[in-house]
Amino acid sequence: MKTSKPRVVTTRQELAKESQRLMQEVAAAGSRPSLGLVPTMGALHQGHETLARAARADNDVVLATIFVNPLQFGDTGDLERYPRTLESDVEILAGCGVDLVFAPPLEEVYPDGLPLVRISAGALGGKFEGASRPGHFDGALTVVAKLLHYGAPAATSQGPTTYRAYFGQKDAQQLALVRRMVSDLNFDVDIVGVPIVRADDGVALSSRNRFLGPDERKAAATLSSALRTLARRAAANEPLEMDEVAELVHAHPLVDLDYLEVVNPDTLEPLGENCRYTPFTGRALALIAARVGPVRLIDNMELSGVHDGGTWEHSRATG
Ligand code: PAJ
Repeated sequence: MKTSKPRVVTTRQELAKESQRLMQEVAAAGSRPSLGLVPTMGALHQGHETLARAARADNDVVLATIFVNPLQFGDTGDLERYPRTLESDVEILAGCGVDLVFAPPLEEVYPDGLPLVRISAGALGGKFEGASRPGHFDGALTVVAKLLHYGAPAATSQGPTTYRAYFGQKDAQQLALVRRMVSDLNFDVDIVGVPIVRADDGVALSSRNRFLGPDERKAAATLSSALRTLARRAAANEPLEMDEVAELVHAHPLVDLDYLEVVNPDTLEPLGENCRYTPFTGRALALIAARVGPVRLIDNMELSGVHDGGTWEHSRATG
């Protein structure tokens, strides 16, 4: 596997030049090149690594970006606390075979200060995570739109290129919103969703987990265990009885549950009432968020009660 260090660039100009050079190298060898973009805020862990590895497996050229986007942080304390570990991030990306890293300073992304005109995440951005973090998804989508523009490969001597961008299913609402933005605003890029990476105790990897003390870490595991209970019930076509599961999470003294909901994976419309007390069939996504000690944690899990090739619509119709 390729482990040579990726080139790190900090300006859009260098990024365009270096990306064009790498793409042209592939084109010169006679094939139509593809580029995979992996947007991150750094403090990389194995969750980010799977995105980079998926991009490496699918594309000729892999570009990762590292930028802590102030526009998506509500409180400045959280922004200041956000870990910045560029050197080790580049090591990790090297191990994943990434070709090029774009790590711009703030002024490169926002040269005129924070932007006046932004992407609106609409109603889909106002619920779940958006309800407790106003403006978060507008800020995230605005920077994702910019990063998608910056990373878009130019045509090569072989003609048009293929452009893919990789996002984790860990942030299910962000992934759904990015997909909607790309389709609603006609961005020419394929969005690829990558499964959640978990630690041995079931906790979904997150850069914020490092702020959990030992007891809080144990408490954090109740989130994924609640999701597993729902997934088990769904697979057995049993009623989900979410209230009972929420009660168990609620009962934990260190966990302050915000929401536990079962939704359509694309629209995030709640399906809860349909499967609360009636047998679960079809497919859905269970979402959970809670504050544990100093951090807000989110997690989700696919629920599948499909044995007959049905879809979630089926569950809506029969549930
Ligand atoms: P960040 O939190 O750094 O995450 C970068 C990508 O890694 C996201 O797509 C996220 O879903 C994915 N990821 C994080 N933890 C994961 C895990 N345990 N398993 C699988 N994937 C995981 O998300 C952002 O940055 C920002 O909002 C960004 C899209 C970069 C825009 O600023």
